[in-house]
Amino acid sequence: VNPNSIRNFCIIAHIDHGKSTLADRLIEMTNTVSERDMKEQLLDNMDLERERGITIKLQTVRMYYKASDGIEYELNLIDTPGHTDFNYEVSRSLAACEGALLLVDATQGVQAQTIANLKLAQEQNLTIIPVINKIDMPNADAQSVMQELEELDGINLDKVILASAKSGVGVDNILASIIENIPAPKGDQEKPLQALIFDSHYDVYRGVVLHVRIFNGSIHTGMKIKMLKSDLEFEALQVGVFLPAMKSVDALMAGEVGFISTNIKIVSNVKVGDTLIDPNQPDTEAVPGYKEVKPMVYAGLFPIKNEDQEKLKDAVEKLSLNDSAFIYKQENSMALGAGFRCGFLGILHMEIIQERLEREYGIEILSTFPSVEYRVTLKNGEMLSVNNPMLLPSFEKIAYIEEPFIDAAIIIPMENIGEIMELCQEKRGIYVDMVYLNNKMAELTFKLPISEIAYNFYDSLKSITHGYASIDYRDRSYIVSDLVKMDIWLNDEIVDAFSFILPRDKSFERGKQIVQKMKHVIPRKLYPMPVQSVVENKVIAREDIPPLRKSVTGRGYSGSASKKKKIAKNIKENKIRQRKFGGVDIPQEAFHAVLDIH
Ligand code: GTP
Repeated sequence: VNPNSIRNFCIIAHIDHGKSTLADRLIEMTNTVSERDMKEQLLDNMDLERERGITIKLQTVRMYYKASDGIEYELNLIDTPGHTDFNYEVSRSLAACEGALLLVDATQGVQAQTIANLKLAQEQNLTIIPVINKIDMPNADAQSVMQELEELDGINLDKVILASAKSGVGVDNILASIIENIPAPKGDQEKPLQALIFDSHYDVYRGVVLHVRIFNGSIHTGMKIKMLKSDLEFEALQVGVFLPAMKSVDALMAGEVGFISTNIKIVSNVKVGDTLIDPNQPDTEAVPGYKEVKPMVYAGLFPIKNEDQEKLKDAVEKLSLNDSAFIYKQENSMALGAGFRCGFLGILHMEIIQERLEREYGIEILSTFPSVEYRVTLKNGEMLSVNNPMLLPSFEKIAYIEEPFIDAAIIIPMENIGEIMELCQEKRGIYVDMVYLNNKMAELTFKLPISEIAYNFYDSLKSITHGYASIDYRDRSYIVSDLVKMDIWLNDEIVDAFSFILPRDKSFERGKQIVQKMKHVIPRKLYPMPVQSVVENKVIAREDIPPLRKSVTGRGYSGSASKKKKIAKNIKENKIRQRKFGGVDIPQEAFHAVLDIH
């Protein structure tokens, strides 16, 4: 291939502005897949993604397009994930491109994620092609959107394309503009290999598959390759491209995008953002922008059935490959037995992993509530990291605890500034800065404790702004906080998996709320059971779970047969998600009870 006939690009947009629809239309207009296959939305092909309406994993597609100059161009569209938990992946996929289509809905105008994504693209020096989409809609107002675009830095208004991804109007102009305006990749085939891993996945037939963008040199089947950061050597077993189905090619050359399947066994060694080089050219530079992805929250995952232990181990190992941000480690709880302590980018990420374990691997999981990673300094000077409250040393030994804060850049409509300020303060946020981006949006910067924002902060933000907010997390820092560990005792035994860390000044109120909730979610026994919340050896609150009076499903119950059946069914279903501890069933709901109070 002649690199001059290659274009690598992505589509960036606020949610629902039409990214998937435009991607489908491009694939259709370049005859990349047959019409029958088009029925399936190609780029978001996991059920889960479709149901949640977000794109989690990148998926690349190569298209061929004969332009008006008679040349057939190779167009590589790299899909970008759409949720804030996955920002690092967005930046890696952008790094694989030379240009981006900036899609703006003609009825909605420039929104928070339009600006946030534009900034990420500009950081990678991408050529931006602005596209005003949905011009077929009766309330489309391209003129106002034009004005909004004008207020953004670095937008060339002469290059704006009016389009409808739905009807196809303007899509030929988009293709023409990609070819005309996005630079061809600059790489040099003769130089030593330098390639970016922007994604990876596990394939049952091929094993570990790397999604790569070649910057210099080339990769062909059988070649020995080295991963720079993880310092691992492997062999390229198969080299290919996404059409979007995976197809073998002889080689991937400088400027191209494709995949390599490998003989890598230790899946956790593959890191998105790492650089591939020729082991004989060890001085080759890394592609800039690599970051060690650090989880924001941790939680324990335990199989409901003991016999699923091995299956769970295998599943978390495979998932961690598909997902460089997901990490895990064996953990043991007195109450729940053997399981895994897992790290996630956020709560959404955690929920997705849990759902995938259940759906794709058929393993029922009990998850404990999430925790962040605290830095604990002991009175003897020792310092340790604790992401599992069970492992926090006794309060008598602790000098102080630091908790992780993150710099959050929050883009919101101007009319919501007051309420969002309040929300951030409520979450113990420290105000840093505010700037106006245009006449309707502002960017607030706060230092926020991860523990406060991990759970439902994003939802609050979205609900206050009616969906018109975007948040980007940047640097992390550790700040000393007055924190304590709360233990929950059930029937005079501590349930270690329930322990969590919280600010001291919230412990009294939370301690009371929790035991009240627990009283309702812990299944009753024939005898009364006390449930207590304890902080620093002091009981904060106590409730008694009343004893069972009469079994409604057993003998002696006089209700109708159908009602009896229904109750029995409910009980059975509830039992699915619980584990026994000291003769007491611990349902998943009990963990949710602790969360709901936050
Ligand atoms: P996320 O993946 O959730 O970010 O959404 P998206 O940006 O991929 O948007 P998607 O393509 O799913 O489009 C959102 C909605 O807008 C869908 O109902 C589309 O059918 C509709 N839509 C997209 N483009 C057009 C268009 O040009 N005209 C009209 N009328 N509707 C469109």
